[in-house]
Amino acid sequence: MFSILISIFFGKGPRRGVHGMHRGVGPARDEARHVNSNDGAPGLTGIGRRHGDEAGRQASADPPAIEVRHLTKDFGGRTAVADVSFSVARGEVFGFLGPNGAGKTTTVRTLGTLVAPTSGSATVAGIPLTPENGVEIRRRISIMPESPGLYLRLSVTENLACFADLYEALDPGDRIDRALRAVNLADRANDACGTLSKGLRQRVALARALLSDPQVLFLDEPTSGLDPAAARDVHELIDALRRRGVTIFLTTHRLEEAERLCDRVAIMNTTLRTIGRPDELRDQLFARTLTVQTLAPLPDPGRVFAGLPAVDGWHQDGPAVYVLAVSDSTAAAPAVTRALVAAGADVLSISESHHSLEDVYLELIDQDQEASRR
Ligand SMILES: Nc1ncnc2c1ncn2[C@@H]1O[C@H](COP(=O)(O)OP(=O)(O)OP(=O)(O)O)[C@@H](O)[C@H]1O
Ligand SMILES: [Mg+2]
Repeated sequence: MFSILISIFFGKGPRRGVHGMHRGVGPARDEARHVNSNDGAPGLTGIGRRHGDEAGRQASADPPAIEVRHLTKDFGGRTAVADVSFSVARGEVFGFLGPNGAGKTTTVRTLGTLVAPTSGSATVAGIPLTPENGVEIRRRISIMPESPGLYLRLSVTENLACFADLYEALDPGDRIDRALRAVNLADRANDACGTLSKGLRQRVALARALLSDPQVLFLDEPTSGLDPAAARDVHELIDALRRRGVTIFLTTHRLEEAERLCDRVAIMNTTLRTIGRPDELRDQLFARTLTVQTLAPLPDPGRVFAGLPAVDGWHQDGPAVYVLAVSDSTAAAPAVTRALVAAGADVLSISESHHSLEDVYLELIDQDQEASRR
């Protein structure tokens, strides 16, 4: 539904712009990419993408859409963002994750020229982040902030008209109509924003971020407070924007959303804890395991599992449940099956354990909490 609407919106013009056997993951710096926020600055566009395109994108000669080097932001005595470095390729959907107070919005606001960094440097939409370049950057980006910040007494259309005027948009009426249709709000166009529910206000803020056709779009928790169908619509909208090559910097607490939408994710907790594709992060943090369940306990499991190809170790996880650390599950599973059958065991199941991005996130954040208690 949204995909259709977004193509209406943008037309066909040229593109613009288990068992956790943990592996250590140190803070990963010098890699990621990120975005910033601004209540509706004029926008821009990037180039194409998708999960399998990562290598190609990284190898691309195109300069990154966002590059951040040693960014630090202090508020008085409090450090919100500490020595963060990463880059975001053009056309990438980049997830920025972290607990409350991790510095996500501060990073967005810094890259969006709303607050000045304490130290470090960045380029946004290819432009160095300096006070003099603020206007040029804002022409190329758009920010959907975590708080919609609407004029509550004005109607939806009037709110959007204010921003279209600010951006000096050509054909503002047409752009507003298309933005409203893209977020399924055309039927509420004349309602005062103060009469809208939280989720509907979120959608107005998203429409506002689309007015300027940005190259880089910062979405700060765009689905917070949205019902499942509305969240799905936003996901489809992000997919459609990605197909047009827009670079998207997405902060979210919905980890399944990040896993589904993002080419790469960064996990922040004031410092950058890790960055990479969700599957890479899983492999970095968790050993691959096979879980074996037999009808009765094995009399001598050590003898069954010892010396099997691609099996690095095992432990028992229940009366007749065994967790095997494996280097290659495709090689290990048939060998384990044969060994069990040869030992006369009745096998109920052999399954590879799967870790979600949520497992990765929680593991890293738990490590931080444990470290802070020490
Ligand atoms: N203007 C400000 N003045 C003082 N402290 C601030 C300011 N803005 C943010 N902070 C502090 O910086 C830290 C990071 O805040 P930030 O809003 O970036 O977190 P976040 O990762 O976006 O969190 P959330 O998930 O709750 O939105 C917090 O401790 C916050 O209180
Ligand atoms: Mg925030």
